[in-house]
Order: sequence, then C-alpha cells, then structure tokens
Amino acid sequence: MIPTPHIEVKEQGVIASTVLMPGDPLRAKFIAENYLEDAVQFNQVRGMYGYTGTWKGKRVSVMGSGMGMPSIGIYSYELFAFYQVENIIRVGSCGAYAPELKLYDVLLATEAWSESTYAKVQGGVEGQVLPASEALNKKLVQAAEGLGIPLRTGRIHSSDVFYRQDHEAFKDIRDKEGCIAVEMESFALFANARILGKKASCILTVSDSLATREATTSGERQRSFTKMMDVALQGAVL
Ligand code: ADE
Repeated sequence: MIPTPHIEVKEQGVIASTVLMPGDPLRAKFIAENYLEDAVQFNQVRGMYGYTGTWKGKRVSVMGSGMGMPSIGIYSYELFAFYQVENIIRVGSCGAYAPELKLYDVLLATEAWSESTYAKVQGGVEGQVLPASEALNKKLVQAAEGLGIPLRTGRIHSSDVFYRQDHEAFKDIRDKEGCIAVEMESFALFANARILGKKASCILTVSDSLATREATTSGERQRSFTKMMDVALQGAVL
C-alpha cells in the first residue's frame, strides 16, 4: 500500500503519529527549519514538502496540505489510512465573519460547517457539520493556557470559494449557521478523521476580516503565526 500516489515514503515509522499541516508547503519547510530539531524531509512529490523531527524531545511531523478540501482530503487520507498517522492538527489562516474577532486572534475550531459534499461522497457521512476531536482540542486548550495565549473557540465555515461575487453572503452563514470565521479545509480533514477513526483539530490565525474588511500584511502575519505554532506544537506533544 505504500508508497502512496502523493507521498513517497516507503517504510512505516518515517512519519510521526502526529502531523501538523499548514496549507503552504513552504510553511511546512519553515516550521521544520525553525521549530523542529533534526528535521528530515520525507516528501517532495508535487512540491508538497513533509518533514519529521523532534520538538521538546518528541517526534512530530509537518507537511503541507495545499489549499482547499480536495487537496487536504488527499493528503490527510493517505497519512491516516496508509502511514499510521493518528492525529492531524491543521495550522492555517482564516477570514473573520464575527465582527468581534480581531486580526491576529488565534482560533480553535470546535466544528466545521460546510456546503461541501466531501463527507457524503467520501464515506456516506450525512450532515453539514463535523466536529473536531474533543481530546485533541482539550490538549490544545491546555497548551494555550500554559503559554498564556488567548484562544477563541467556535464553529468555522469550510468554503470551496475564496473569491465570492456576493460580498455580503457571509452574513447569512454567520447568522444562520453560527460560523465565526471561514477557511477552506477543515470539513474534509474532520470527515477523513471520522471515517477512519482518527483525530483531527484545526487552529487558525485571523488574516483578514470579511466583517471589517481589514487584512494583515505578510510581515505582521509572522508574529501571530508564532503564537499559533507554539500552541500547536505544545498541544501535539502533551
Ligand atoms: N483563509 C484566510 N482568509 C480566508 C478567506 N477570507 N476566505 C477563505 N479562506 C481564508
């Protein structure tokens, strides 16, 4: 069964049981080079870099997911189903729907709402809401508390569309579905975790706000990224 079409690893054990997944593969490279010790690259198929190293003496992997549900659907499925990965923590960015959310806030998804058919098509899972792992979320909350980093929690929208013609459409999703922010991957990740009996969580930094129309610059984003990474890595090794 291994290697798989999108991950060129030939032996079990090369990928750690917990994988952090940023959308951007260059983010995965940055995390490996700046946070992990003794990081070794295990994947470069399609430029979707993956690395395994240690953090505080514990093995952790980091790999890009790409953008959108089809992409994270493929990578997280292969990691869970074929490489004995037990936990995936998505580390990404989101657009705020709730006006009280500020740029750079760090958010933990309790569940993902989506109009996507991914869960139904993949595994016959009905419904538009899928939960994050409670156990993994507990560790991330504990990590954030230990580090003194405030975490917002709530339901997020996993959307297939980044550029939407109707700039006000988000208000209905916010007000009717209770979504506080939007990203593009978690619903598929949570679906795979549920179908395969694994754990998945998603931690996000607010990079823009649909409610206030503010956006961050890339330099400013780095600081909030650091807070999110500290929570994710600490939560990964608890
Ligand atoms: N990720 C970050 N900002 C986003 C937005 N506005 N829409 C979808 N995904 C996002």
